[in-house]
Amino acid sequence: LIKLCHGAVPQTQRRLATSISALTSRTVKQAPTAAKGSTSFQAIQEERREQAERSVLISCPAKINENKFLDELTKHGTIDKHFFYNSFGTYAVVEFSSRESIASLKESTNIPAVQHEAAVPFKSRLLSLKQTGSGSHPTPNFQEQSPPSINDLIKLLSEQDSIDEQLQSLTKALELSDENISLRFLVCSLLRDIAGAYFPECIIRPFGSTVNSFGKLGCDLDMFLDLDDIYASNQKTGSGLSLEYQVKRGASERVVTQSILSVIGECVDKFGPGCVGVQKILQARCPLVRFAHQPSGFPCDLTANNRVAMKSSELLFLYGTLDPRVRQLVFSVRCWARVHTITSSIPGAWITNFSLTVMVLFFLQQRSPAILPTLDQLKQLAGPSDKCVIEGNDCTIVSDVSKITMQNNTDTLLKLLQEFFEFYGNFPFKKSSINIRKGKEEIKPETSPLYIQNPFEITLNISKNVNATQLERFVVLCRESAWLLQQGEVLNRSSEQTADSVPAWGFAALLLPSVSSGAGVKSRRKKKLEPASSRIKNLLDSLKIKGGDTAAKKGSA
Ligand code: CTP
Ligand code: MG
Repeated sequence: LIKLCHGAVPQTQRRLATSISALTSRTVKQAPTAAKGSTSFQAIQEERREQAERSVLISCPAKINENKFLDELTKHGTIDKHFFYNSFGTYAVVEFSSRESIASLKESTNIPAVQHEAAVPFKSRLLSLKQTGSGSHPTPNFQEQSPPSINDLIKLLSEQDSIDEQLQSLTKALELSDENISLRFLVCSLLRDIAGAYFPECIIRPFGSTVNSFGKLGCDLDMFLDLDDIYASNQKTGSGLSLEYQVKRGASERVVTQSILSVIGECVDKFGPGCVGVQKILQARCPLVRFAHQPSGFPCDLTANNRVAMKSSELLFLYGTLDPRVRQLVFSVRCWARVHTITSSIPGAWITNFSLTVMVLFFLQQRSPAILPTLDQLKQLAGPSDKCVIEGNDCTIVSDVSKITMQNNTDTLLKLLQEFFEFYGNFPFKKSSINIRKGKEEIKPETSPLYIQNPFEITLNISKNVNATQLERFVVLCRESAWLLQQGEVLNRSSEQTADSVPAWGFAALLLPSVSSGAGVKSRRKKKLEPASSRIKNLLDSLKIKGGDTAAKKGSA
């Protein structure tokens, strides 16, 4: 997570943001992975949060007897939902109908007696179940929490009948499952119990790919500590007297955030069961605590006061609901970029998934007719209750999606994919920036190799970290992939298939390592970069002339 720049936030502004979000009633269509029965982004988040508060996470013996397990737990109340998964051991998530069940369950749970060591007697909702005797009983169904391996994915894609079907099945295979999202909210809720010891009104909210509808199984869990409810009550007695809390003061909002995160980080480290490898990264522009939550397997980033990032998660969610091709193209491009190490899980000069997503959105705004509206259009359609200003940034977007008129664009996913690669293979990165607010390229305000305007903090570049080498690798790979997607051997499924394997074709062929190494980009680049690039560019130009309409930009690349 790289979140840029936090200035001091006057309390009144924060309260305004809270009350506006409380007033806002939204009717966004439900994303495929969203909680059932909810309609708006906020309502989905609230419903998930409330479910998580009624849930427990239990480490179980590998040969768990599911019926006996459920019989035991229903002694404490009705169970709404439960599922098992494996992650360095067997775990169960159990959601009760009422919170009283959690209290009852905790009453009958013991602090373990440990030998040679001592235990921190912190009673969390992460429990261990001991079972005496295994007996013979059916194995429960385990929910998968990890993405398929690249080889399995290539196989799955190669079995599809068209490239459009490939992109659709890739999205289904990689997207977060309903259970995985529940587990993510449960981890936030478990951490809230730790932070709640100091700040009972606090909420830990997930943001980023957990909630923006572009999350892939295995992605990190971005969270922020929301303290806004602490400021919510402002009672006047009418007697002319009023009481204030005596508070400790810090030199700035940033300093206070650092102190709070430092203490919460310490508690997570010392008291948080299952939380390992805690690192406090408090000097970053957006201070954070990073750790791994072992029982869920999630790499976690905990920040504070990150409302703007939450709003960009809502914006991405909104874009993702407008047309199914948006998520399908984003998932495919992100997968392609990850396989060819254009993106990385290690922070550095790589393009991030967030940047790539915004690049896809920008490309879809450039189509003729446009597939997605600009951010300015979403703002123009907003009603008075949609007004939202956070830390001085106008984050207003329409909440009523029925006000958004979608244009009739019937491009296939194959066409979009081909033209995405052409578009960025020829984009004038040297002089232009990517701007989804205006929906058009603008002159770069500074010399970063890749300039993508932050949607809400408009003076920031979300891809400031990207260096020229990484951008060049992306451009070359786009050109190679555009070229490959014009070849008959790649476009058509081979008839030479055996009973148990189909040769990789279509999008699956673009995921093969040879695209970026060996026969692909690297070897060609090693020989002579320029002729290879111009050869492909010429080839593409001739294809463009033959193919007629294209959104690819001519000019310097
Ligand atoms: N963010 C931002 N500016 C950046 C980077 C991130 O505003 N330069 C915000 C975005 O809202 C982003 C969130 O922080 O969605 C989380 O960042 P990150 O974890 O890097 O991206 P994700 O969208 O969560 O994607 P991933 O699946 O790679 O975690
Ligand atoms: Mg993330």
